[in-house]
This record gives sequence, C-alpha cells and structure tokens, in this order.
Amino acid sequence: MQYNLLPASADDAEALLRVNVAAFKGEKVHDALFPKDREHLVPDDEFWQWRIAHHRKRFADPETMTFKIVPSDNLRTIAGYAAWMKPGAANRKKQTQAQKQKDDAAITDQQKIPETMSHGVVETPPAAATGGSISDDGESSPRMNAELHKEFFGKIDAKRDEIWGESGEYWYLVGFAVDPAHQGKGLARKMLQWGFDKSEQDKLPIYLEASPAGDPVYIHCGFKPIAKFEIMEGSEIVRCMIRRPNSASDVLNGEVGQK
Ligand SMILES: CC(C)(COP(=O)(O)OP(=O)(O)OC[C@H]1O[C@@H](n2cnc3c(N)ncnc32)[C@H](O)[C@@H]1OP(=O)(O)O)[C@@H](O)C(=O)NCCC(=O)NCCS
Repeated sequence: MQYNLLPASADDAEALLRVNVAAFKGEKVHDALFPKDREHLVPDDEFWQWRIAHHRKRFADPETMTFKIVPSDNLRTIAGYAAWMKPGAANRKKQTQAQKQKDDAAITDQQKIPETMSHGVVETPPAAATGGSISDDGESSPRMNAELHKEFFGKIDAKRDEIWGESGEYWYLVGFAVDPAHQGKGLARKMLQWGFDKSEQDKLPIYLEASPAGDPVYIHCGFKPIAKFEIMEGSEIVRCMIRRPNSASDVLNGEVGQK
C-alpha cells in the first residue's frame, strides 16, 4: 500500500487523537497519566471533547508543524502523525508560560475555580514521549494524574533546559505515533525523513524524548541518547536523543552530546 505525507489541519484533530490513544494504550506512563480511579470526575464525552479541543489548539500554533500520513487510496484514514516544533519555539513558549504564571499569580484565591469543577491549568511544556497530545498548552484535566503530569513534563523541561540552555538551535519532535494497524510498514521512517531533510537543509539537529516503543526505532534511525531522567520513583527511564545533520556536525556547541 502507498502512503502520502500531508500537512494536518484542525479538522484532523479528532482522528489524530484516535491514533494517539490507539498507539499509546497500554504504555505505562501514558496509562498512569489517565488513571481509572479518576474517571468518575469528568464524563467520558466531556473529557473526549476537551481532549479534542486541546489537540486542536496545536493547529492554531504557528510554532508547530504537524503532518499526517494517509493511505493514498483512502485519504480520510489517518495512519500516523508527526508534530515538529520549530527551532527556538520551546524557549519562546517557556517565556510565554512564565508570563502567564505571573499573570495567574495576580488572581486572588476567591477568583480561582476549584480543580474538581473545571479543567485546571498545570504549568507544563510540550508533550513528547506521550505523542504530543497531552500538554501543548500546559492544560491538565481532573481526569489526569496531575502529580505525574507535572513530574513528567517538568522533568522534560528541566532536562531540555539543562541540555540546550538558551539555544533554540534544533528541530524538536514533540508528537509522533503510528496507528497499530499500520505499524511495521515504514511509516515512522517516512515521517522522520521529513525532519531529516529539514535538519540537513537548516544544518540543525533534531531533538526528542523517546517513549519505550520509540526508543529502539530512533536508535535504529540514527538518533543518539544524550541524557536521561527517571520518573515514577525510578520505575521508568526516559531517554533524550539527538540526531545531527550529516553535513553540519560542527553547528552544535561542544557540550551537547556529552551528557
Ligand atoms: C514507534 C512507532 C512510531 C514506530 O512506527 P512504525 O511505523 O511501526 O515504524 P517503521 O515501520 O517506520 O520502522 C522504522 C524503522 O525502525 C525499525 N524498527 C522498528 N521497530 C524496531 C525495534 N523494535 N528495534 C529496532 N528497529 C526497529 C524498522 O525496521 C525500520 O527500519 P528501516 O526503515 O531501516 O527498515 C510506533 O511503534 C508507535 O507509534 N508506537 C507507539 C507510540 C510511540 O511510542 N511513539 C513515539 C513517541 S516518542
């Protein structure tokens, strides 16, 4: 079967979310982020609509380029997606979030809505190892394990800062998944190739945090682990990786790749 790589639009938000849920179901961190004992807090349909709306915001974000891969004989079926954050965007988002935190601090306690009554806000950077559907804008839901949410994305943020500091000189793969029905057919490779070409063109590396399923695939495709962090009391290790462009290994400062 032939597949086409196309830009995704806001109309694809629900289909992309379905791919995300199918691809990550059963994955330890992902499942722990959505614990069964919180399901009663928000009705299924409301939660699903919230997730779609949340996912849709990505398409309004000019800093992230999302692509879908579709069978060429059935363009309505989405088999996988890749979301790429532009160079410098992670730092720009951090600055925006810091400003938002300041603004939020100005709100008095009386004005705040209790978390159990409304979807709350937790400061987080973009999701990566969960496929990018959870926290692009820092929002959380009462259905989610807020503590783990904060730990996971806080560590992603801290490690990225430690590695890159103020340098935004990399393409950042923040969302990546292939529907299980279409896995093992080279779709991830095809989607990664877009980033490899961009990386060559811009002479910039690609950076990501790998999920357990993504880890060996990324290694196979030329990524190198440069750092790692533990979550869930050390029961999960997340590896951060880069893939340098072949033509420009000297664009990286000496420290990247040492950690
Ligand atoms: C990880 C994932 C995207 C891979 O998608 P896929 O379409 O099945 O992968 P591909 O078929 O394109 O395989 C890409 C390459 O990796 C290789 N590969 C696949 N699984 C591998 C493994 N376990 N170990 C080593 N290499 C592997 C393939 O042989 C292929 O190599 P080639 O291009 O040289 O032939 C998919 O399994 C997935 O969506 N998993 C759940 C969600 C997830 O974890 N996403 C990553 C978030 S960081």
